[in-house]
Amino acid sequence: MLVVASANGKVGIQAAMEVLRAGGSALDAVEAGVRVVESNPEDHTVGLGGLPNLLGEVELDASIMDGATLAAGAVGALQGVEHPISVARRVMEELPHVLLVGAGAARFAAEMGFERRDLLTEEARRAWEERLRQAGGDQSLQRYTAAMRRWAKLAADPERPNETVNFIARDGRGNLAVGVSTSGWAWKYPGRLGDSPVIGAGNYADNRYGAGACTGRGEMAIRAATARSIVLYLKQGMSLEDACREAYRDLADLVDPYAGPFSLIAVDRAGRHLGVSNRPGATYVAMTAEMDEPVEAPRLVMNV
Ligand code: GLY
Repeated sequence: MLVVASANGKVGIQAAMEVLRAGGSALDAVEAGVRVVESNPEDHTVGLGGLPNLLGEVELDASIMDGATLAAGAVGALQGVEHPISVARRVMEELPHVLLVGAGAARFAAEMGFERRDLLTEEARRAWEERLRQAGGDQSLQRYTAAMRRWAKLAADPERPNETVNFIARDGRGNLAVGVSTSGWAWKYPGRLGDSPVIGAGNYADNRYGAGACTGRGEMAIRAATARSIVLYLKQGMSLEDACREAYRDLADLVDPYAGPFSLIAVDRAGRHLGVSNRPGATYVAMTAEMDEPVEAPRLVMNV
């Protein structure tokens, strides 16, 4: 049994492992782990306390995938629900669809009994106001709403790496699952989706080969179909490290003036795991059933 997560998943990795130890599925484990991060107001890239879009609205993206069946569910630009990962799971289980966005996702969440709450914390609101003031010297929202496409470039703020949370679990039956949740890039254009809700971009799991999940500039993972690529490279017989290296080569081919931090975690079918980042010093966390505490391991550095 194994749980692997991005470093900000450390707060939830024990909860995920408890699920596995109790005989729960990999799907249950990733959902449990992600939910803890979504409720952490200190994490400004996920759930409650996430930094808002240009209009000051917290818009959340999440996805979940079952490596046994290749079933998947996702939500994008969802407002007012603390646990988008659980809504994504209900999309997978209750609907003949994979991805719901915006008002439709909120409607479905309400139908499934998810409570509404304001996710914009005071700290996140102050950070948003400050960023707008720094950028324009005028915090009148009207000024930004008039021609917001110009201000969307604020989302590519190199000082504010976009973390997102990734979880991959392998349960006692050898099944893999992956869960991803994010508030997306701070100050993004309203309605922008990153890679996190896009199956194959920000997440992918297939018991037969392995699983991958991404954080960072989601636009790159969408264009290169990064998580699915890792799994396909594993299918071609590459080692886990070579599969990740090949996926990074694909990213390096992209022409992208906003290219920025990009990281991933990956697990192969045997339970070997790896974290990769283009930022030196970045880490990820991993825990097996025999461990009392997770280990925080360095990510391999690869360039994009
Ligand atoms: N990787 C998360 C995002 O781009 O929103």
